[in-house]
Amino acid sequence: MSAIPHLELCAVSLCYDEVRALQNVNIKVPTGDIVALIGANGAGKSSALRAITGLRRVAAGEVRLDGHIINSPSAQEQTHALVRQGVVMVPEGRHVFPHMSIKDNLLMGAYTRRDPARIASDLESVCERFPRLRERFHQHGSSLSGGEQQMVAIGRALMARPRLLLLDEPSLGIAPQVVRQIAQSLVEINRKDGITIVLVEQNSRMAMSLSSYTYVLETGNVALEGPSRELMNNDHIKRLYLGG
Ligand SMILES: Nc1ncnc2c1ncn2[C@@H]1O[C@H](COP(=O)(O)OP(=O)(O)O)[C@@H](O)[C@H]1O
Ligand SMILES: [Mg+2]
Repeated sequence: MSAIPHLELCAVSLCYDEVRALQNVNIKVPTGDIVALIGANGAGKSSALRAITGLRRVAAGEVRLDGHIINSPSAQEQTHALVRQGVVMVPEGRHVFPHMSIKDNLLMGAYTRRDPARIASDLESVCERFPRLRERFHQHGSSLSGGEQQMVAIGRALMARPRLLLLDEPSLGIAPQVVRQIAQSLVEINRKDGITIVLVEQNSRMAMSLSSYTYVLETGNVALEGPSRELMNNDHIKRLYLGG
């Protein structure tokens, strides 16, 4: 683990008008790790990702990338800077373009790149990672199952050559056996490609089994945090997040 975390939220608060969605939240994401952010619906998980990407301005606190403050008065500036620095988000709900082929959906992830030969080889790597996408390469996004759409969304993010991947509930609405496949692919993306991952999930079991460290958000606060293996044996976690 390097001394400076890859990503850090320092005393971050975030509001929507009078709703305070995050209050004094501290999160550290070490380089090369998978860090899980779990919590019930409305706990503030997506808001934490919005604070990082600048989709929503923080009311207080700092977001640091490799030790540098990145929260900027201009959300657009922050979002663009992040893409340049290799931070890529896989949004909740996947947002696959329904009228575009799988291939073109994947290529959308590489739209800022100017290295066609490497784009082609990265497209090949994504197809190796998700063989189902190769089988459906020329079909429209609208013809895919939820799990396949999630593979497209992750594949599209990989086409941007990220160093840090932010995933918002990748298991949502996906059949359990496909969730296992996606979980396995996230582990490979982390281990083989060395990509740091922030995994937001309501599927606590999946998130904790993949991650080295877990933060539990409850009504905008970090209620509990620790190494995932330890937290899995915590009574509060077992009762509230792992179904007894
Ligand atoms: N655009 C919005 N406008 C107003 N309130 C919002 C908005 N988005 C989220 N919230 C509120 O902020 C809180 C945290 O939401 P969110 O970060 O989406 O939680 P999670 O992702 O954990 O389900 C909730 O109380 C939610 O109702
Ligand atoms: Mg959410």
